[in-house]
Amino acid sequence: MRIDIISVVPELMTSAFSHSILKRAAAKGLVEVNLINLRDYAVDKHNSVDDYAFGGGAGMVLMIEPIDACLKDLKSKRDYDEVIYMSPDGQMLDQPLSNQLSLKKNIIILCGHYKGVDERVRQHLITREISIGNYVLSGGELAAAVLSDSVIRLLPGVLNDETSALSDSFQDGLIAPPVYTRPQEYNGWGVPDILLSGHTANIDKWRHEESVKRTKERRPDLLK
Ligand code: ADE
Repeated sequence: MRIDIISVVPELMTSAFSHSILKRAAAKGLVEVNLINLRDYAVDKHNSVDDYAFGGGAGMVLMIEPIDACLKDLKSKRDYDEVIYMSPDGQMLDQPLSNQLSLKKNIIILCGHYKGVDERVRQHLITREISIGNYVLSGGELAAAVLSDSVIRLLPGVLNDETSALSDSFQDGLIAPPVYTRPQEYNGWGVPDILLSGHTANIDKWRHEESVKRTKERRPDLLK
């Protein structure tokens, strides 16, 4: 999979892709993430990519010209399945949407900044808008990193234990069960006996029951 992320501050995302699981995914050739600086497509020698909003008001707006030039450049090299704009008023990101996007080959993610992008970008140049939650971030960069992480970890071969993504919270509509590791006892706080029993079938059953219990307690909305 290839993910091209367009931003005016790509540096905000470098660390997210340079460590741990996402770094290994790229090293194994399972994903290629490219951080593209929109200023490379600036309209003038001052590197301008934004301007004042028509009609007045505070805040700058990213211009359509550099964005269109960047998209045209990328699309001249390969076909893309999606051009996603990160926006608090987009479709809410959830596990089914991440699963769906993980099946795509090439995607572009456009990050807004300041007051956002010229509305004509949203009307004509993108295929979908995604939000990571009902709050406003300073830009789409952290949201793009969240979206990318949730997608990349689903790609076959990225997680060491192939079944691990399947046992994540939300993957089966349930919250993940509790997990424990050494020491077996700490401050008098123990570990459920069942997990030490070595009986795989019983452990699986317990885990499922705990998942259902947790989901009822914490996220009853998921059971509807
Ligand atoms: N840009 C600013 N806030 C955002 C959010 N909540 N989700 C996605 N993109 C955003």
